Amino acid sequence: MSLVEKINKLKKEKNAIILTHCYQNIEIDEVSDFVGDSLYLSRMAAKTDADIIVFAGVYFMAQSAKILSPNKKVFLPNMNSGCLMADMIDVENLRLFKAKNPNIPVVCYINSTAEVKAECDICCTSSNAVEVVKSLNVPKILFAPDTYLGKWVEHKLGNVEVITFNGFCPTHLRIRVEDMQLARRQYPNALILAHPECHCEVSKLADFVGSTKEIMEFAQKSDNKQFVIATEKGVVDRLNRDSKLNNWGKEFILINENIVCPNMKCNTLEDIYRTLETECNEITLDEDIIDKARLSIDKMLSI
Ligand code: 13P
Ligand code: SF4
Repeated sequence: MSLVEKINKLKKEKNAIILTHCYQNIEIDEVSDFVGDSLYLSRMAAKTDADIIVFAGVYFMAQSAKILSPNKKVFLPNMNSGCLMADMIDVENLRLFKAKNPNIPVVCYINSTAEVKAECDICCTSSNAVEVVKSLNVPKILFAPDTYLGKWVEHKLGNVEVITFNGFCPTHLRIRVEDMQLARRQYPNALILAHPECHCEVSKLADFVGSTKEIMEFAQKSDNKQFVIATEKGVVDRLNRDSKLNNWGKEFILINENIVCPNMKCNTLEDIYRTLETECNEITLDEDIIDKARLSIDKMLSI
């Protein structure tokens, strides 16, 4: 029996599902029930009837699934799958940030730990950050940890001051202005699509800025045939696969071959099989943290 068949058999026996982020190694899609971005996967985690969720993504995503489905067992296939951005802020730093800027609502990016979420007013993902901030209807907010997504929201809304924590995604910051300029020269007919975690100077040069899901939808719907993608390699791999499978006749080019999130690529099919078989790497959280963090995620999901 192949590894894929063994995983699928175990999934059935244990009533388990596998949620997979688009930055994962593409072969993981073969055993996945749902593949998508953080917002979509959070919604699926909240909705499922399964007893077990294996989250093929990074640590904060599996924690969010646990917060949304506290009575289910949630597993991360490889415990080395952290998120460097999420690790840039802890509760102490967040409290200092709040103390320096008192009485201002705090929006936290879903790329943060459960403990940080528990200290914030509302959560957001890159798909809904603009709507979440707009829904607060206030002139000023604090945004943590990603400074660039925060600044992107400020730019999009135009009438809200966004005071940002100084976190960032090291993978997206590897995309430089020179990469964008080179891509324009090399592929004059291509549209350049970028993730809002990119540096603001990079985002300014893109034809479209959006979350993983928004980039994928834009690429599918567009009449253009060639695209340069300024986000993680997993998105490019999936777009090229889907183009081939569905005869879109489109070509997707990664802006720079180094745009690979090492943490996202930790999970393998072997890890998933071992996790399902032995039920190792379970995500556990204090009830108190779950209850508090859930408030900020639920508020986001209700928008
Ligand atoms: P999405 O919200 O677009 O899924 O992005 C998650 C992420 O970690 C981007 O680096
Ligand atoms: Fe975190 Fe960046 Fe990796 Fe996304 S791409 S999981 S923000 S380190």
